[in-house]
Amino acid sequence: MLRVGQRYVRDDRTLTHLCLVSRALGAEAVYLEDAEKDVLGTLEEVNRTWGGGLRVVLGEPWKKVIRDAKAEGRAVVHLTMYGMPLQDRLEQLRQLDRTLVVVGGPKVPGKVYHEADYNVAVTSQPHSEIAALAIVLHEMQNGEELKRSFGKSRLRIVPSETGKRVIEP
Ligand SMILES: C[S@@+](CC[C@H](N)C(=O)[O-])C[C@H]1O[C@@H](n2cnc3c(N)ncnc32)[C@H](O)[C@@H]1O
Repeated sequence: MLRVGQRYVRDDRTLTHLCLVSRALGAEAVYLEDAEKDVLGTLEEVNRTWGGGLRVVLGEPWKKVIRDAKAEGRAVVHLTMYGMPLQDRLEQLRQLDRTLVVVGGPKVPGKVYHEADYNVAVTSQPHSEIAALAIVLHEMQNGEELKRSFGKSRLRIVPSETGKRVIEP
């Protein structure tokens, strides 16, 4: 997942949530142009506690991230309310092996729309990058990501009908 778009105010909570959703729903890495170091710290702590190896890359220019992704054979899927309805592109998106999903911030450079292989909308209404990312990752993977295991971890949740059960495996 790549987050692009100039920010006017520090918004680490949104960035952290984008990263947590990416991790939980199967992303390998997240690229953040201008995150504070504490976002990185939070994600490292979540990896240590709950497993998985999400990579967090800070400060790489978005143009380079897109260029490298394309060179690796990834399709670039940009989430924007101005794009084509997700439901009309799902058949193609589900065929893709490797993708870079791009989400915007307050101001998305026009070039991102041209660089993307797919500009995809989750409804043609303005809402949240976190919600759009979650829906697209879920739909693209047909729900398979919900069954993913996170490997070795310090803590593991034992799903429970009532209350909380957490073990140290
Ligand atoms: C709060 S919006 C601001 C968008 C900005 N006005 C622009 O230039 O497009 C931030 C991001 O949320 C995502 N987003 C918001 N609504 C969306 C929708 N209906 N479908 C897909 N993505 C959406 C997009 O990635 C967008 O760049």
